[in-house]
Amino acid sequence: MEYVNLGKSGIKVSIIGLGAWQASGKTWGADVEDENIVKAIRRAYELGINFIDTAEAYGNGHSEEVVGKAVKEIGRENLVIATKVHGAHLRYNELLKAAEHSLKRLGIKEIDLYQVHWPDPWEQIPLKHTMRAMEQLYKEGKIRAIGVSNFAVRDLEEARKHLSVTDIVSNQVRYNMLQREIEEEVLPYCKRESISIIAWSPIAQGALTGKYNISNKPSDDVRRGNKLFSDYNLREISKLIPVLEKIAKARNKTVAQVALNWLLREGNVIPIPGAKNPRQAEENAGVADWRLTSQELKEIEDALSKISLDYF
Ligand SMILES: NC(=O)c1ccc[n+]([C@@H]2O[C@H](COP(=O)([O-])OP(=O)(O)OC[C@H]3O[C@@H](n4cnc5c(N)ncnc54)[C@H](OP(=O)(O)O)[C@@H]3O)[C@@H](O)[C@H]2O)c1
Repeated sequence: MEYVNLGKSGIKVSIIGLGAWQASGKTWGADVEDENIVKAIRRAYELGINFIDTAEAYGNGHSEEVVGKAVKEIGRENLVIATKVHGAHLRYNELLKAAEHSLKRLGIKEIDLYQVHWPDPWEQIPLKHTMRAMEQLYKEGKIRAIGVSNFAVRDLEEARKHLSVTDIVSNQVRYNMLQREIEEEVLPYCKRESISIIAWSPIAQGALTGKYNISNKPSDDVRRGNKLFSDYNLREISKLIPVLEKIAKARNKTVAQVALNWLLREGNVIPIPGAKNPRQAEENAGVADWRLTSQELKEIEDALSKISLDYF
């Protein structure tokens, strides 16, 4: 396994993490079992993955409880735990309370990375209040580092302005080879400022594994509404899959591994694929310690240039 620094924090995380939104009950499908997710985290840990991402929003705290079980089994010191405060808890006092609840559900004394899940557009809580609360938790030793999620550059700049003793170490945003919006502004800014990009939906919720097509779509609550799985988009994506399959075969990897490895091509990006079971965790751990060649990257780029997605 390869390890990288989380921003400028000095916290070492595996270059690939494990996302635990899947541990939200059955919203990700009838096949989700808490026990299997604990086993997935254990298998990931055995293979060198130490970075686990959850949130109070996932299953109303259920995911944090499941991660807490894994922490107990594996040992607190062996894992870097990232969680997030809900976008509706960004007032000073609410944020402090939310952190206490997360600590309790996770069964830990200190959160390694505490992230603002998204900047709230509804209540217009000034980021000044949110960041003061984050820094208070940092000073009290309840969190080791501050991160954000789904922040545009303007939000990042504003948030950073209100921190005085520490800085934002990461921005967790959607990034996969089909959804590359962050490449325009967020990615260059974060690279320049040594803020790690934590990539969510790194295999496009399964659309980049080659297993879904118009006659086999995921039907769970989360993905039913995901436009990536429309007939039109799946037909477009099906033009890319054979290119990924060819590369995967030549490298003795899987399509999902090629899609995840593509995210490692420039550094500063830590993908956190969600895993439902040990088999998926194992496959996702196999993304470290190799890189796609420039020729393979070019083949992928050429294939991507021939498809266009429609979100309407
Ligand atoms: N900050 C945010 O706003 C935000 C938003 C979304 C997600 N996240 C975080 O990012 C994590 C990952 O994103 P995501 O869950 O949206 O999507 P993802 O990781 O791209 O896709 C996860 C899904 O892909 C399938 N899968 C996983 N590994 C596989 C493998 N090796 N081979 C084949 N299929 C595999 C599984 O579903 P099936 O087996 O059922 O296909 C799994 O549920 C989440 O768990 C969460 O921690 C954060």
